[in-house]
Amino acid sequence: MINIAVLGYGTVGSGVVEVIDKNNEAIDMKSGDKIRIKYVLDLRDFPGDRVESVLVHDFDVILNDPEVKIVVEVMGGVEPAYTFVRKSLLAGKSVCTSNKELVAAHGPELIRIARENSINFLFEASVGGAIPVIRPINSSLTADRILEIKGILNGTTNYILTQMDVEGWDFDKALRTAQDLGYAERNPEADIEGYDACRKIAILSSLAFGHNVNYENIYTEGISKITATDIRYAKKMKSAIKLLASCTYEDGKYYAMVAPFIVRSSHPLYSVSGVYNAIFVRGSQIGDVMFYGSGAGKLPTACAVVADIVDAAKHLDKHIYTFWSEENLQLTGTENATRKFFVRVKKDRASCEKLIKDTFGDVKFIELDDVSGEFGFVTTPVTEGSFNEKLKNIPDVCQSIRLESRI
Ligand code: HSE
Repeated sequence: MINIAVLGYGTVGSGVVEVIDKNNEAIDMKSGDKIRIKYVLDLRDFPGDRVESVLVHDFDVILNDPEVKIVVEVMGGVEPAYTFVRKSLLAGKSVCTSNKELVAAHGPELIRIARENSINFLFEASVGGAIPVIRPINSSLTADRILEIKGILNGTTNYILTQMDVEGWDFDKALRTAQDLGYAERNPEADIEGYDACRKIAILSSLAFGHNVNYENIYTEGISKITATDIRYAKKMKSAIKLLASCTYEDGKYYAMVAPFIVRSSHPLYSVSGVYNAIFVRGSQIGDVMFYGSGAGKLPTACAVVADIVDAAKHLDKHIYTFWSEENLQLTGTENATRKFFVRVKKDRASCEKLIKDTFGDVKFIELDDVSGEFGFVTTPVTEGSFNEKLKNIPDVCQSIRLESRI
């Protein structure tokens, strides 16, 4: 019998208990031992709930119980999660977590402590919900040099953008529905301003490149300024707007970014809709590999956590080596990245067409049939730095969005 303790009985925590209860027999068979939830830690009481008999309010009960071999941290946030996880690892207990804030902020240190204690710190559920992506990067793809990771890593924003596109909903209605469905973070800012996707790409790129990618150094822009009219322009271009998170290695330099992009209908990420996530990994020998699936939600995320519990149970006294050095990876500023841009101008096209052509060269103009007093244009490839300088010459610009051009 392997005793586990679950820290946090919120959305993911209650999902973990539900999955273990529901799939009990299969999980025990696959673990090679019986997994038993000995404690659930939460500040709240849950009268009449299945966890009432195992509920504790004091973390030290778990820490001081030598029978607890695996601690499952699903509280979210950096503190007190970091303190509890660190103490658990130092006490020789493996930890499985879904907490990307914790992993992005302290991943390499917690991995090192796990290694020093011949136990495991596992975090498959921290990126992409149910999609297996951490483990593949750490095992199946280790033979190749990874050149790029790019994907849709936030289910809430993808759901919002999809609903705005397909249903014509406004931003607020789409966000409220995402929250009702349990996709959004407690603080929706983390989703809509791109912070959640930023932490996730920091985790994936740290694993892919072996050095710590500090999430605070990643240029991050969310979707809160994207409007229904922007989406209509994108549609006219046979494209959709997606929040993309990426980290790329090119000519000896590493670039990382989270931002909304206009994605053409021929691009595989175009059809990733709703709460689904997808992650491209490009290697020098393997070419493109894509991972796709449910990126958020109680039970998909819980299943990824429980799979880590099974892995930890199979490796109780053996560390599964993960290469994530504590040394920071040097990122190059986004001003050096080259791409096309879409720009919206709140003026009559005739009044500034010449100025735009003189400034940007051979641009492509786009107009919406039933919208007057404004127009859009798409530039040729230009560095971000040069684009920002040139844009200062154009009056009444109300929006600019990057174009995803690869593939
Ligand atoms: N709020 C996150 C998302 C949950 O929408 O993707 C999963 O990390």
